Amino acid sequence: MAKKQLVSVKVNGHEREAAVEPRLLLVHFIRESLQLTGTHIGCDTSHCGACTVVLNGKTVKSCTMFAVQADGAEILTVEGLASASGQLHALQEGFKQEHGLQCGFCTPGMLMSSFALLHNNPNPSEEEIRRGISGNLCRCTGYQNIVGAVQYAAAKMAKTESEANVAEGVAK
Ligand code: FES
Ligand code: FES
Repeated sequence: MAKKQLVSVKVNGHEREAAVEPRLLLVHFIRESLQLTGTHIGCDTSHCGACTVVLNGKTVKSCTMFAVQADGAEILTVEGLASASGQLHALQEGFKQEHGLQCGFCTPGMLMSSFALLHNNPNPSEEEIRRGISGNLCRCTGYQNIVGAVQYAAAKMAKTESEANVAEGVAK
């Protein structure tokens, strides 16, 4: 058995570390070492996107890299989307309101890909949304409601931002 290596990461704002075998995949590190089981494993071969997380601001399929390669990284998983008080992220709310899930297996990965998309492009077109989630497979929904969920979130986030700007203007 190979010598274990210490992997330290910041996950959802918390510093975490564990000693792991060098061959351990990041997705297994997240699910088993860190006990964050919201990140799913669908295929283990980089096809389905269920294991998608945001690593240093970019989406990665966490079954495609080793945990040791993530040493020192900042990772956001689906558990980190809602606020500490439990308020759902606009995307989570959108998936709920627009029926963006059925079995829910693909949903954590869809949420993380959508999160990165809206972070880089707050007002995406339908085509851009479809491209943004093109690495994530869903066998239930037909995708249309997922697109609707992302549009819902984009609109809500834009409204929240404009209200915050107004409030800031009033406060000045
Ligand atoms: S489990 Fe990683 S892409 Fe399917
Ligand atoms: S909701 Fe079932 S795979 Fe997407």
